[in-house]
Formats: sequence, C-alpha cells, structure tokens
Amino acid sequence: METGRGDRLHDFNVNAKSRQAASERVRIQVACFLHRELPVRLAHRAVELEAYELFSKSPSIMNVCNWYKTSFAQLRVCPAPTDLDKEAQFAKVIESIYERHAPTLITMAKGAHEIKTILDQGTDEFAEMHDIQQRLNDFYMSRIGIRMLIGQYLALRKPSNEPNMIGLVSDSASPYDIALNVIDDAAYMCTRTHGDAPEVTIHGRTDLHFPYVSSHISYMLLELLKNSMRATVEKHGTDKMPPIRIIIADGESNEDVVIKVSDEGGGIRRSNMNRIWSYLFTTADPAILDRMLNTDNKDSVRDFDVQSPLAGLGYGLPIARNYARYFGGELTIMSMEGYGTDSFIYLPRLGDRDSVIN
Ligand SMILES: Nc1ncnc2c1ncn2[C@@H]1O[C@H](COP(=O)(O)OP(=O)(O)OP(=O)(O)O)[C@@H](O)[C@H]1O
Ligand SMILES: [Mg+2]
Repeated sequence: METGRGDRLHDFNVNAKSRQAASERVRIQVACFLHRELPVRLAHRAVELEAYELFSKSPSIMNVCNWYKTSFAQLRVCPAPTDLDKEAQFAKVIESIYERHAPTLITMAKGAHEIKTILDQGTDEFAEMHDIQQRLNDFYMSRIGIRMLIGQYLALRKPSNEPNMIGLVSDSASPYDIALNVIDDAAYMCTRTHGDAPEVTIHGRTDLHFPYVSSHISYMLLELLKNSMRATVEKHGTDKMPPIRIIIADGESNEDVVIKVSDEGGGIRRSNMNRIWSYLFTTADPAILDRMLNTDNKDSVRDFDVQSPLAGLGYGLPIARNYARYFGGELTIMSMEGYGTDSFIYLPRLGDRDSVIN
C-alpha cells in the first residue's frame, strides 16, 4: 500500500500537481522491483518441481514447470524497466506471464491425480501422504505470493476511480459487501447443480471496514459457502433448507477480524477431519473430477470461476486456508457430525502487526 501510494519515493511530496508524475514513478519503481524479484521466485519454483522425484514423473507437473522456465527466460531478456517506454514493454511481458500461468491450479491438480494413479492410491490414502501434500501446499502458497505481486503491479497500472483501492488492496474492505456478491455466485453454482440454493443471512458487524485484499476474502468465502450449500442441499434436499449464517465479528481491540460461516448440513465425520485439508480429498462424485481434468478447455476451469462445479476437485479448503495464512491469518473448521459445520476465517488487520508475508 505504501509503495502504491508513492510513500516509498524518497523525494516525493504528495500534491495535486505531481500526482501524475508520482504514479508514473511508482509504476517504474514497482516494475524494477518485479524485474529483479520475479526471476528468483520463478526459478525456485521450477527447481523445486523438478527436484522432487514424484513430481518429475507427472507430465502435467512438468508442463507447469516449463511455464516457469519460459517465464523466467522471458524476464531475463527483457530490459530493466527504467523509463516509461521500457516499463510499458515490461508490463506486456508481465501480462503474458500472468495469462500463461492462469491454468496452473487445474494443471497441477491433474498432475496430482497422475501421481495418485502412478502410486495406485485411493482418495483417503493420497490425502494422508504428508510429504506430497506439504509440497503441494508450499507450491500453491508461493504461487499466491507471485500472483499477488504481479496482480498488484497490473492493478496499479490500471486507472481506477475507486479511491479506496491501492492496486488490489482496499483500505476499507467490507466483509458484508463482499459476502453479498459471493452469496450470489455460490447460489448460482448451487442452483445450477441442484436446482435451488439455501438462503444465506449475514449477522454481526455488517458495518465493518478494514484494510485487506478484497479478492482474497471473496475467494475464501466462496469456497466456504459452496461447501455449506452443497452440504445443506445433500442433507435436507431443496424443499426445506435451513439457512446458512455468516457472522462478522470484530471488537475495537481484537487482534483479528473473524468471519464465521455456519451451516446445518450434517457436519463432517471426525475421521475425515484431517483429510479435508488435503489436495484431491473430496466426497463428491469422482466422475466430476474426471470431467474437470479431462476437459481440453482450460479456460472453463480457472481458479474461482463460477463455471466450475460446486464441488469435486478437493481443492477448496486447502487453497482457501493458504489465502487466510498468506497474511498471517487462519482458517479452521469445527464440525458437529449429524448436525452441521462452523468454518472460521481469521484475518489480521493489515499493517497492525508484522504479518508473515511469503
Ligand atoms: N460445510 C461442510 N459440511 C459438510 N462437509 C464439508 C463441509 N465443508 C467441507 N466438507 C467436506 O470436505 C471435503 C473437502 O472440501 P473441499 O472444499 O476442499 O473440496 P470439495 O468441496 O469436495 O471440492 P472443491 O475443490 O470443488 O471445493 C468435501 O468434499 C466435504 O466432504
Ligand atoms: Mg469445496
């Protein structure tokens, strides 16, 4: 936020006249940082993907690895963006990198599925293979970092008429407003699959605003609501669905903002509680996964796309937890088998304490 505002330019004094110049200089400053930083991060990903024997056996994962190498090489031949022309050229390269890596999540999922097949493991067993699960987690966590840096730069370049936004960061994100949008998306996805969707009510601090990356809150809430809607419909059918409750909690002296999603969808078996955080663990029909992984149209299964199925990949929870942890928060789930599930998102107020930023 500070860099985006121009606070990190040594000799910069905010006044109306120099605003334009500042934003150009901010662009160059951020671009130069990315020009140095991104090749390092991309190279690390490529090396780690290749070095792990199980990953190297998966054609899809090696395909993703090649995207990292291509992007690395592309950045290394691009001149340092030290003036506006070079910065514009650099931005084009960054846009093409962002696009190239867009289907990473689904392609890596395909790769995980290939490994599961090579190892001849069932869903439960694969969920309990901690080494591979941990490596997938590290990979996706680092990906959030890279996408955040690139996304922030591209967003800063776009003229915005929203005064509260600094790139991707909102200095006054409203969980209530975000929830309203996400409820529509989740209801759309649920209705497409089941013909109807449960009602969602919002309680607590509906007036709360705090600095955060709004899109991250949307991603997390969408995954939780999709799960709650699916569970509710599967337990009750569509005739008499108990509403899902979202509760926004915050006290002035609280460390975190906490959002709870509470459903009466029958809960999760205790023996599955550890597995729900694993990649590819799902109780949905395996045919859905097969369809997703075998589709040639990668555009239809981008991250957090409302066109993807309501459930089926077994990626919702582990990815959502990575988003919560990215800025030092947490995502937890408490289930009461036979009754329902409470999911909690804990979000630190950015800037209030030293967040763990990867
Ligand atoms: N609110 C809930 N109520 C009941 N079961 C749940 C709930 N949330 C998650 N689960 C269980 O945890 C599993 C894993 O959830 P996760 O969101 O990671 O994957 P998924 O929903 O199966 O697929 P997707 O990747 O499309 O989200 C689900 O398949 C389901 O069995
Ligand atoms: Mg899910």
